[in-house]
Amino acid sequence: MDGTADIDLDSPAAPLLEVRDLRVHFKTDFGVVKAVDGVSWSVNDGETLAIVGESGSGKSVSAMTILGLIQSPPATFPSGDILLRGKSLLKMPEKQQRRLRGKEIAMIFQDPLTALNPVFKVGDQIAEMVRTHQKVGKLVAKRRALDLLGEVGIPNPAVRINQYPHEFSGGMRQRAMIAMALANDPQVLLADEPTTALDVTVQAQIMALLSKLQESRNTAIVLITHDLGLVASHADRINVMYAGKIVEAGSTNEIFYRPRHAYTFGLLSSLARMDHRRQERLTPIKGVPPSLARVPKGCPFHPRCRFATDECIAAVPPLESVAGNGHLAACVHSDQVGMANEERLAHG
Ligand SMILES: Nc1ncnc2c1ncn2[C@@H]1O[C@H](COP(=O)(O)OP(=O)(O)O)[C@@H](O)[C@H]1O
Ligand SMILES: [Mg+2]
Repeated sequence: MDGTADIDLDSPAAPLLEVRDLRVHFKTDFGVVKAVDGVSWSVNDGETLAIVGESGSGKSVSAMTILGLIQSPPATFPSGDILLRGKSLLKMPEKQQRRLRGKEIAMIFQDPLTALNPVFKVGDQIAEMVRTHQKVGKLVAKRRALDLLGEVGIPNPAVRINQYPHEFSGGMRQRAMIAMALANDPQVLLADEPTTALDVTVQAQIMALLSKLQESRNTAIVLITHDLGLVASHADRINVMYAGKIVEAGSTNEIFYRPRHAYTFGLLSSLARMDHRRQERLTPIKGVPPSLARVPKGCPFHPRCRFATDECIAAVPPLESVAGNGHLAACVHSDQVGMANEERLAHG
């Protein structure tokens, strides 16, 4: 039986990929690490959703959970569902889950060597990926690998197909990993810090490649990064994550020009602006994110927040609509943040 048989992948009604109230906790000697703590979002065809937050905010764990890469134990999943076109992945038989993960949802990582095996030729690995999910012969799979290497902009694919990962430069390896992720025409690509290890020039090339592929294939991209600056020209919408939760969500314009959570405002204020010569004006956020085994009471950001009051410690602020256009923020002082931002824009 085809694993996709009872999934109508062309049904337009449901979002392409939806994560609902996802919680991923780890039992450790230091207590329960609440790596992901009630996260919901969705992404549609051809759209880029960015998930942004400092290191240790639960971004990778949420992505890996979608792909079934988080082992339980040590992880527990106190709540949550993952839906592909409205059908729950978690309620499907294991075998069907596995088929959809990897075929319809693929992932690329910061380090291509997590996906590419150093002892096999690049072309063979891509061909193998094709054959894992499609009933095709070796020759057809190899032909497809060749096309994919060309599509991701690797020069001389006929030569490169027979080389090993160590014969590729960092940028070329990243392209090869992208080719592997695209081998089965996934509908969703989860890109976890895809350019973090690369220098800025190669970074721009890889982002341009992802945009080009997205346009030609209408792939949805979930772009996960600690770098808010990177997503400005690539994301349609942004979720800002802090301490295992989404603290602000909205269109890229809303997040960049009308932030309403103090954390987002802090991230924006610490961004180096290309058009700005006086870089000493940058104000990084004080301190570091909390250990997810000991998340501060109330708003998890309050110990680092210049707007914090007693109210912020009393209860976790709910993620609420702040502008009626899908813009949500979980901040008691969202109005004040809005005003401080007006000032920043006026004097920036
Ligand atoms: N297997 C595990 N056991 C315990 N804690 C874990 C495990 N995997 C991840 N974590 C913790 O989950 C938190 C979120 O990690 P991660 O999702 O990798 O953050 P990000 O990608 O935002 O930098 C971190 O505090 C990390 O230490
Ligand atoms: Mg990560």
